Amino acid sequence: MARTTARKVRTGQPISLNRYRSVWEMRADGWINLTDDLGRLVNLARDSSEYAERHTRVKDTLAMLEPIERFWAFPGYRLFEEMTTWFESGDTSRFSVAVHRINRMLASNTYRHQTLSLEVESEDPSEIETEKESQAQIMRPYFEVLIVDDMSREEEDALRRRVQRKQRVDDPFVWNVVVVPSFEDALIATLFNFNLQACVIRHGFPFASEYKLDLLRKFLEGLDEGIEGQPESERGPLLGKKIAELRPELDLYLVTDVKPEEIASRVGEVFNRIFFREEDHTELYMSIMKGVSERYKTPFFTALKEYSKQPTGVFHALPIARGKSIKNSNWIQDMAQFYGLNLFMAETSATSGGLDSLLEPIGPIKMAQENAARAFGARRTFFATNGTSTANKIVVQALIKPGDIVMVDRNCHKSHHYGMVLAGAKVAYLDSYPLDEYSMYGAVPISQMKRALLHFRRAGTLHKVKMVLLTNCTFDGVVYDVKRVMEECLAIKPDLVFLWDEAWFAFARFHPTYRRRTGMDSAARLRHELDGDEYRRRYEAFASSFSGKDWDDEEKVIATRLLPDPDRARVRVYATQSTHKTLTSLRQGSMIHVWDQDFKDKAEEAFHEAYMTHTSTSPNYQILASLDVGRRQVELEGYELVQRQIEMAMTLREWIHTHPLLKKYFKFLNVASVVPAAYRPSGLEAYYSPESGWANMEAAWRVDEFALDPTRLTLSIGGTGIDGETFKNKYLMDKYGIQINKTSRNTVLFMTNIGTTRSSVAYLIEVLIKIARELDERTLDMSAIERRLHEKRVSSLTKDLPPLPDFSHFHFAFRSACNSGQIETPEGDIRKAFFMSYDEENCEYVTMAEVAKAIVAGREVVSALFVIPYPPGFPILVPGQVISSEILEFMQALDVREIHGYRPELGFRVFTECALQQLALQTAGEAAAAVAAAAMASVATVVEVSTATVEEAASAGAEEKGELKK
Ligand SMILES: Cc1ncc(COP(=O)(O)O)c(C=O)c1O
Repeated sequence: MARTTARKVRTGQPISLNRYRSVWEMRADGWINLTDDLGRLVNLARDSSEYAERHTRVKDTLAMLEPIERFWAFPGYRLFEEMTTWFESGDTSRFSVAVHRINRMLASNTYRHQTLSLEVESEDPSEIETEKESQAQIMRPYFEVLIVDDMSREEEDALRRRVQRKQRVDDPFVWNVVVVPSFEDALIATLFNFNLQACVIRHGFPFASEYKLDLLRKFLEGLDEGIEGQPESERGPLLGKKIAELRPELDLYLVTDVKPEEIASRVGEVFNRIFFREEDHTELYMSIMKGVSERYKTPFFTALKEYSKQPTGVFHALPIARGKSIKNSNWIQDMAQFYGLNLFMAETSATSGGLDSLLEPIGPIKMAQENAARAFGARRTFFATNGTSTANKIVVQALIKPGDIVMVDRNCHKSHHYGMVLAGAKVAYLDSYPLDEYSMYGAVPISQMKRALLHFRRAGTLHKVKMVLLTNCTFDGVVYDVKRVMEECLAIKPDLVFLWDEAWFAFARFHPTYRRRTGMDSAARLRHELDGDEYRRRYEAFASSFSGKDWDDEEKVIATRLLPDPDRARVRVYATQSTHKTLTSLRQGSMIHVWDQDFKDKAEEAFHEAYMTHTSTSPNYQILASLDVGRRQVELEGYELVQRQIEMAMTLREWIHTHPLLKKYFKFLNVASVVPAAYRPSGLEAYYSPESGWANMEAAWRVDEFALDPTRLTLSIGGTGIDGETFKNKYLMDKYGIQINKTSRNTVLFMTNIGTTRSSVAYLIEVLIKIARELDERTLDMSAIERRLHEKRVSSLTKDLPPLPDFSHFHFAFRSACNSGQIETPEGDIRKAFFMSYDEENCEYVTMAEVAKAIVAGREVVSALFVIPYPPGFPILVPGQVISSEILEFMQALDVREIHGYRPELGFRVFTECALQQLALQTAGEAAAAVAAAAMASVATVVEVSTATVEEAASAGAEEKGELKK
């Protein structure tokens, strides 16, 4: 029965989205304004004009808060409605006390473990509770459960009483319920209420929300398409699916009046449990508790805590274990004082006593990794205690054999380049689009990847291309459309493996907008889609309209949105994450996430070996425990934390854009400055502009080839006349103790993270204002000459920037593509070049001037080393790479102090001409041998070996034959 008559129809206030960045901010502001206005109101004469003004403001704020409070258990909309009647009936002091207390409890989060007292005479509970009592409460975490049911007020009250009766003092958690009456309200609550941990969907509820508030409706954009027309009986299962998409960490329960068995068989994987009618309240209650407990459990951290309490005699290495070598020392007592003894009590080199081995986990480490896989949406997860630098090398070694071709973003972290050397990969570098104006790179366009794959296809070597390796997101916050990249690449080469370096993106899983652009989520969605009938129909239509010949038309392939063949495409995706960079973990705590449908058959053994190769036999247990705890945190509060992280970033953006002094010297790069228009079909240019307010970030993230992570804030500082490094060291760090990671010539990068507080944001704004003031004063004081010099400096930082060079090419001697005949391909044997430089006689030093002359004279000067200037921090040269005049110009224009692999007094370390000639002869010999070998191989063998498409195999065979005839 529909019981909606019990509620009023709300139209909401015409509050514009643009005035508020978020509904959370709007809510917080609402309660603060209410408190302030009421504080004044109680002391004002009722006939004063200020009274009338404040009274109206309170009324407006109440109207604004009313629909929002519907979605929170505290203070709860029932109380909110009652309070509103106090105000309307003129009982302002009672209303004021309640508002004041609620605001305090909301701001300090004490509503999670304290009861609200509304008695005017009574004291604030926070003041009467003893420290011990409040500690005991805090130890029992609080959460809210969403109940989706169109119930009457009486039924709702009865439900609340029932839930309260069931709660016991020894329960591990405390919880409260939020009841919403419709499908749309449930979606809004899911996205809006970050206290939710579980959702109970009952049978029979309407679709549409009665609230028309545009700020809330923003949550629904694109979410409820096509659902309205579905029969009522399908709404519960459909809602479950939608909620699982938005917040997969939530536990979902369905209480149905019809055929629970049939529903369970269809959508059982979405729900933790399906109950029939109201038959089992106790089971449901216990299931909710158990579901949250599962996420709360930290198997390894708990085992380590237990271990630290056991009495043991230490007869292994590690004198620090149980603090023994410290406690007995006369000289290092301060170490124990500083760190606390628990750190050492939990140190051990033994894998016994309930602990486990990282190299061969069977106990709590295994369980902790399984929990992490669940949290991060992976099929398997492996912990790494040596950072993502090691994680990257493990994955590359596990999947790449010497001679396999890997397409790598040249601008990626150095661990990949070294990983390529170790694995003996043939490296085909991909260039990211440059942002010359800021000496920064963007990311690799899909068109470039497709061109590279087509090039290999034409050369008949596509079958050797094994992996595509990209950084997502980049240091500067450029985020790929991961699923699209994989789809289009798999359409050309269906068995490609993808390694997504998500060193900076571990947090992304816990926010729906970000999640869709992560490796794991994209892999799961891609496989699910490929296996569906709808996709098959789409693919068949595509395949019949895009035939064999079309594949030879490069421009057509580039312009077409390619679809992979669902029967041939394999989804093999790896993501490496520095948990320690963006989530709670001790330094070097990283994870490798695997979503590889062929893992067991094609990778597991090699992965194990690679893991053994790179993992210490003495992994740090504290790091492992922190990974376990960090996982618990994000599974229970990741959504809230990431949401807050975004809000902090948006606050910073708004301040810099609007403060008169700040905007004079500084500018945060907006989306349009970092992502060229060609990759931005949404047309979104900035997340915030003073003219049009806040833009819809979610819409852009749905369609654009590249998105900008708003929590990466690149501040353009060219206008100050100070370069990035000086600004970082002399201004931010030395003077104000502000730490940042990255600079370019004219930018510094700030990041917000899940630990960023409003106070730290306020401090940064304060510091930037101080610096801007200082710059203002200095400019005013300048003599004419000083002013000219300053302007010159500003111009050099903002205008005369050297264009960022592309990867030139590997020298012939390190190229293998020529082995296969006429069509040269770009991949190079970086390992050969790397180790050739170990022999002194193969190398010499040449200065920049000498290189410039040599280039003019026609000599190919080849780097023997990685040359990496900091900033920007990517290798401008790799071993075996020819130094181009563009690279030289860039190097000459760089005014950075730190260039790894380049010695200012000696110059570049390069290969001697003689060494290169010898190697080139050898390579030519190998090429001839390869041609001879190819002549002996039959076309059939080529077809068998090749994993390319049927047409590709045929064309590869034809090319081989052509080559033989030649
Ligand atoms: C893109 C990228 N990948 C990998 C790493 C290495 O990560 P870790 O410091 O965890 O070894 C970094 C470090 O900055 C990075 O930026």
